[in-house]
Amino acid sequence: MAVSPTVQDAFNRHINAEFYSSYLYLSMATYCESIDLPGFAHWMRIQSREEYAHAMRLIGYIEDRDGRITLLPIAQPPIEFASVEDVMQQTLSHEQHVSTLINRLYAVAADAGDVASQVTLQWFVNEQVEEEKTARDVIAALSMVAGRSDALLLLDREMGARTPSAPTAA
Ligand SMILES: [Fe+2]
Ligand SMILES: [Fe+2]
Repeated sequence: MAVSPTVQDAFNRHINAEFYSSYLYLSMATYCESIDLPGFAHWMRIQSREEYAHAMRLIGYIEDRDGRITLLPIAQPPIEFASVEDVMQQTLSHEQHVSTLINRLYAVAADAGDVASQVTLQWFVNEQVEEEKTARDVIAALSMVAGRSDALLLLDREMGARTPSAPTAA
């Protein structure tokens, strides 16, 4: 059964939100490079690629449902940040915002009686729980560092060790 126009529109808007997330984290990566935190920059580049993969996963799903993708303009992300703590706080707020968007998208699918879309979105619901937890963990680590440059250097190395997560079956 082809996806309904209402559900298709809601997915198209959400695909844009995932591309924006990718752009936002890429901007944060370049900021982290500019303040000499290459580990955080590496972590943010992986985060950016994962958001791109989320968008692509949704595109694939809509295409499988015989829907039509409309790529919308991607807004400019913030360029400057106050500190690496600010970067991670904005990451957490952004992920909380995206969780709200996923919940709304799920509600659109549920209202339309679109079971396949609800099942597809369950992966994203779980992913958002992980994303919020990860951001909170980094914020906690930064608050323990509390501006000590030796501790920050170690944390930056740890952030630099992040490996991309294995692609999961759609
Ligand atoms: Fe995402
Ligand atoms: Fe995310």
